[in-house]
Amino acid sequence: MIIFQLALLPWDRGLFLLIEVVGMKEKLKQLKEEALQALSAVETASELEALRVKFLGKKGEITAILKQMGSLSAEERPVIGQLANEIRAGIEDAVGQKSEALASEGLSKQLTSEVLDVTIPGKEYTIGRRHPITIVLDEVKEIFIGMGFDIAEGPEVELSLYDFDRLNIPATHPAREWTDTFYIKEDESVHLRCQTSPVQVRVMENKQPPIRIISPGRVYRKDEVDSTHSPMFHQIEGLVVDKGVTMADLKGTLNLVVSKLYGEDCKTRFRPHHFPFTEPSCEVDVQCVVCGGAGCKTCKQSGWLELLGAGVVHPKVLAGCGIDPEVYSGFAFGIGLDRMTMLRFGIDDLRLLFENDLRFLNQF
Ligand code: PHE
Repeated sequence: MIIFQLALLPWDRGLFLLIEVVGMKEKLKQLKEEALQALSAVETASELEALRVKFLGKKGEITAILKQMGSLSAEERPVIGQLANEIRAGIEDAVGQKSEALASEGLSKQLTSEVLDVTIPGKEYTIGRRHPITIVLDEVKEIFIGMGFDIAEGPEVELSLYDFDRLNIPATHPAREWTDTFYIKEDESVHLRCQTSPVQVRVMENKQPPIRIISPGRVYRKDEVDSTHSPMFHQIEGLVVDKGVTMADLKGTLNLVVSKLYGEDCKTRFRPHHFPFTEPSCEVDVQCVVCGGAGCKTCKQSGWLELLGAGVVHPKVLAGCGIDPEVYSGFAFGIGLDRMTMLRFGIDDLRLLFENDLRFLNQF
């Protein structure tokens, strides 16, 4: 190369340089075209950055041309330098504009995708309400708590020992049949309790008198479903044990509860009955709240509706729980809570209470 240049005459060298300058000018203009064209196809910020590096970077194409300027004459150098700078500035400008355009495009995309319509109605939050059974249970609880009773709880999966044996229910009693009771164990030692009365035993085992409790809860019997039967229903057990408690206390207590729930005028009727764990025993009816005692479909023309079973706690049951029947006596009762609820609100089908139809439940 050097040998070749030395061999050139001065005018030849001038021609050579002229050709080179023209080539560089062309190349620079071509680069600008290329850059602007590539720029118009750019869609993302990373594509833009790659383009910027390619044309304007330290190892980019314009820098490469500027590096060749060493071979130019002193007159030509500023001409090419200026042109290169103009073209670099032009490309820089275009890149800057593109960058701004991409940013605002991104923002408007984000704004349209996150659009918030403040005129759409808000979510409606409906406040729940108590089930009619819960409403009546709460009323009953309040009445008993007002008389000094505590609330006791017992398991729904119960030992037959508590639900049958300790309650003086003989091995031959029909309630013990597999057709009546949901046994959990083959050996009949555990079942879904068929009454809340085992809670009496659990309370008396753990506490000496005075005892005054009620115990609401679910009970289970193998009954077919109809307007008055369900395999699961609710009872409220009651138990009072103290010195000198009699049937008169039972009557006074239950009459008070009935008059608070159904009004002062609502009469009660105590009928003799039999339960293995109370002696004497009775069933308690209230005057039909639908017809006022005249006789109607609800009370099957009798004028009365059965509400609960009750009695004086059997001395055997007391003794079996470690309470001396010579010193203490008591009364117990088991209220049908679902029946009580139906009478309270005039509901004529038990199934309505368990179907969870909101059209029904929203009325309470
Ligand atoms: N447990 C009895 C029943 O389910 C009701 C009852 C309770 C009777 C307490 C007497 C004493 O029918």
